[in-house]
Amino acid sequence: MKLFDVYPINPIEIVKGVGSLVYDNQGTEYLDLYGGHAVISIGHTNSHYVKRLEDQLHQIGFYSNSVEIPLQKQLAEKLGQVSGKTDYQLFLCNSGAEANENALKLASFYNGKKKVIAFRKSFHGRTSLAVAATDNPKIVAPVNETDNVMFLPWCDEAALEQAFVQNEISSVIIEGIQGVGGIQVATMSFLQKIRSLCDAHNAVFIADSVQCGYGRTGKFFSHDFAGINADIYSMAKGMGNGFPIGGIIISPKIQPAYGMLGTTFGGNHLACAAGMAVLEVMERDQLMQNAAEVGGYLIDELKKFDQVKEVRGRGLMIGIELPEELASVRKDLLYKHHIFTGEAKPNVVRLLPALNLTKAHADRFLEAFSQVLQSSKVTVA
Ligand SMILES: Cc1ncc(COP(=O)(O)O)c(C=O)c1O
Repeated sequence: MKLFDVYPINPIEIVKGVGSLVYDNQGTEYLDLYGGHAVISIGHTNSHYVKRLEDQLHQIGFYSNSVEIPLQKQLAEKLGQVSGKTDYQLFLCNSGAEANENALKLASFYNGKKKVIAFRKSFHGRTSLAVAATDNPKIVAPVNETDNVMFLPWCDEAALEQAFVQNEISSVIIEGIQGVGGIQVATMSFLQKIRSLCDAHNAVFIADSVQCGYGRTGKFFSHDFAGINADIYSMAKGMGNGFPIGGIIISPKIQPAYGMLGTTFGGNHLACAAGMAVLEVMERDQLMQNAAEVGGYLIDELKKFDQVKEVRGRGLMIGIELPEELASVRKDLLYKHHIFTGEAKPNVVRLLPALNLTKAHADRFLEAFSQVLQSSKVTVA
């Protein structure tokens, strides 16, 4: 049997990882500033994480949501404490798309309405409603097309107000910082406007925190910078440091009912152990603080390169916009300097490293980046 060929891949086989470093099958070391799509939050093979999972595997790996699983309650408690959303309720699932799918569905159950507001260049996942709320027609199959989702321009307050006047809005879904869309930071006043319009119209504010959440920006949720609370936060990626786990946290105003949401695998013992390990390490090693410090340092240093068009982001979610002539920078970083980075179209280098990235590793990247730019000798007019 062959694999279903849907991924353009780099011809590199990673066989080992430690912290922010990974190694290929030839023993070559790479600096990982991508964390496999922003998933590696506490570093590869973190010892506390490995032990937590190992111990759990020896106890029990899985049982379904038909019995008591105290680890789920412990995870909810810990997540409430670390995120500061102590009075929210946790529903566990397995991925970011599933988290958003559940969030959008729950919003509609809550207010009985259908229309969803999403934003241009958004990415919310590949399941039915999540992909319908994703602004990329290429990945929306005919069966996913729906009139229930409308796309508005990014951070356009007037367009948002008008949409609320003209439609019965069920929910607004927004990434605090668009990831796939090119590291675009939502303005504080726009997030505040969403909050006030949702309040006025009994609509649900969904904060997609799958990529920009879980401490990456220096605050637990990037939407926190606006000083508002969303009604539902979706999360995944960094939540399990590689073990598949996702979830939504839900404001106390939304009441659960049996059967409303459900999953076979979500919240299993191993996933919860991974989730606990991540939060324990984040807290013990003050990783949000590190993300703010090392990320702030990187952003400041990157702004000094005159060939860079723009540097965007917060903490360790950074987008470096380059001119077209510098389209080969990512490839050079990977193949000449052995540094993994991400991309966003057309020409944004995305940095999404583990939250315990050291300043020494940040400097190693800056040095390589400087060399790559020098060798291409292009200056932006
Ligand atoms: C903001 C955002 N939401 C949702 C998703 C979907 O997550 P998953 O791939 O785990 O389904 C992603 C994935 O990149 C994302 O960046």
